[in-house]
Amino acid sequence: MTDVNAARDKLIVALDLPDTRAAEKMVARLGDAVSFYKIGMELVYGGGLGLAAELAKSGKKVFLDLKLHDIPNTVARAVEQVANMGATFLTVHAYPQTMRAARGALGSSPLKILAVTVMTSCDDADLEEAGFRFGVKDLVARRATQAKDAGVHGLILSAEESRAMRALVGPDMLLVTPGIRPAGGDLADQKRVMTPARAIVAGADHLVVGRPVTQAPDPVAAAVAIIAEIAAAK
Ligand code: C5P
Repeated sequence: MTDVNAARDKLIVALDLPDTRAAEKMVARLGDAVSFYKIGMELVYGGGLGLAAELAKSGKKVFLDLKLHDIPNTVARAVEQVANMGATFLTVHAYPQTMRAARGALGSSPLKILAVTVMTSCDDADLEEAGFRFGVKDLVARRATQAKDAGVHGLILSAEESRAMRALVGPDMLLVTPGIRPAGGDLADQKRVMTPARAIVAGADHLVVGRPVTQAPDPVAAAVAIIAEIAAAK
């Protein structure tokens, strides 16, 4: 059993909405029910960085899903900018140079870096086509270990990978998992899904949930139900 406030912080609602107006409306509607939001590339390129800073200022936690990857100097400077915005989590691709640059740029900032190991849209054939000599399973494990060595705070992975990755990286890295569907929920385009309770039991620290909350007839009720499920998971 987890305290409900701790459980609330484990739910990260993905603001995958077309523009900041729609996102602001959703945040206002969810009110105190939700404490943590993910803002991804779509919304960022539609003015979402301002919203991210506003949310952080208003006391919400913000996960900026920017999946940074560039030369180390550029990554480091971008991370410094994000750290000044008050975000809580930032994603980078799990290339060793990129991860080390991001980690090294944090200074005393509380911003945490999460590494995206292998995009779940990639299978072994996609990796081979892109010139990799490892398949998905091996590359995820290799990069998870490299992330730990680089001092990165956590990993983004599917709930199915959580148990194995927890065993590999130990108890201290944060595991953040999308692909969550409450029992009986609409899968939409997600194929490998887990319920909130099962994902927590599998070792996830935070769950990223988009449409099951934002497209629900009653988003507050949907969020409250997921948080209750997280709190009761054991
Ligand atoms: O609406 P839904 O709950 O499927 O949204 C999940 C969120 O997590 C989206 O923002 C999606 O881009 C993100 N995500 C994902 N699968 C990954 C990585 C990120 O669904 N492997």
